[in-house]
Amino acid sequence: MSDPLRLAAIGVGRIGIFHACHIQELAEETGKCLLVAVVDSHEDTALRIAKELQNNQKETVHAFKSVDVLLAADLAKGAVIASRTEDHLADTRPLIDVGQRVLMEKPLAHSVEAAAHFCAHLSKKPECKVALMQAFMRRFDAPLIHAKGLIDNGLVGSVFKIVSILEDDAPPPVGYNSPGLLRDMSVHNIDETIWLLGERPSTVSAFGANLHNHKVSTVHEDHDDGFMQLEFTGGAIAQIQVTRNHVAGYRNETHIYGDKGLICVGRFQEDPLHVSVEAYQKGKIVHKKTFRMRDFGTGVPVFLERFGPAYKAQVARYVECCLEDTPFPVTQEDGLNALQVTQAAVQSLVRDGCKVSIEY
Ligand SMILES: NC(=O)c1ccc[n+]([C@@H]2O[C@H](COP(=O)([O-])OP(=O)(O)OC[C@H]3O[C@@H](n4cnc5c(N)ncnc54)[C@H](O)[C@@H]3O)[C@@H](O)[C@H]2O)c1
Repeated sequence: MSDPLRLAAIGVGRIGIFHACHIQELAEETGKCLLVAVVDSHEDTALRIAKELQNNQKETVHAFKSVDVLLAADLAKGAVIASRTEDHLADTRPLIDVGQRVLMEKPLAHSVEAAAHFCAHLSKKPECKVALMQAFMRRFDAPLIHAKGLIDNGLVGSVFKIVSILEDDAPPPVGYNSPGLLRDMSVHNIDETIWLLGERPSTVSAFGANLHNHKVSTVHEDHDDGFMQLEFTGGAIAQIQVTRNHVAGYRNETHIYGDKGLICVGRFQEDPLHVSVEAYQKGKIVHKKTFRMRDFGTGVPVFLERFGPAYKAQVARYVECCLEDTPFPVTQEDGLNALQVTQAAVQSLVRDGCKVSIEY
């Protein structure tokens, strides 16, 4: 077997720590990767997390305060990047420039302009073009993959509408760096609809509001509630609903309407660890499968309860692509497309929901 891929976890905040743990678990289970370092611009955080993670492995977990120091140490051959959104590009570019391939959290960048500029930079060299995997974990989520299989097998006929809902029950943590509600949250739903429908939308109409969260959160965001309708050239539409205001609990649902029936993925309910995929035709349930998510215990972020196995599967795929030298299934172009849709959505939103063409 080839040597394990030596990895750094860059940004070990709310989600980065779980990426680091998943690297360690995959190291234990497959021997294909190894966590060698954590990096955080809060050096005390880097040191504390490295110490915690050291309990899970015998090889040293080094702690660094910047990507520059990580590179100087020449320990890692790849990285999972989950630093603040505004730091994504500054943390990623030096790694790719020295020939590494990385898995980078969404969104690709803080603005569409920065994202487009970065994609242009990557496309200058063939090795850089294939160096970034964008972390859209829904594409590795077993319930959504199952639903996609049902669509592709024709269970609900021709799909004409997708309703995708992502509703947080609480504000982002103190100090969280948001590029705006739509760029931060709806990029997940946008990429999901593009993946499920197999095409990009051509127009968007969007609305935003400030209803509740802005009164209780210290994190600055343009809106705390958003809605958008996307039109696809094939005739389908997608309706995307994102909010920080679903105080009753985290809500994550996808409903897929076809001319033969309906598929529902997820349902708001008390137990977040069971995710059902149900298909209906003429008022009858024709298919049902329930997926058990991983129980991390209490106190983990809500998105971990819903997507824990998907985050791990995503890291596993990243490692395999690096070891086998194959292209990533999700790239910077997917990240850019999602941001381009949000850019048009923001333009629509300030014009009270006027339909705006999306420029790619
Ligand atoms: N895929 C998903 O479902 C998902 C979920 C959550 C977050 N994310 C993404 O992951 C990234 C990190 O999000 P998070 O929720 O872990 O954020 P976080 O705020 O918990 O942590 C981000 C990192 O920024 C560091 N940091 C905090 N304040 C800083 C400052 N002033 N200067 C420099 N660094 C600072 C923290 O130490 C930490 O390493 C974001 O880009 C976010 O969009 C993705």
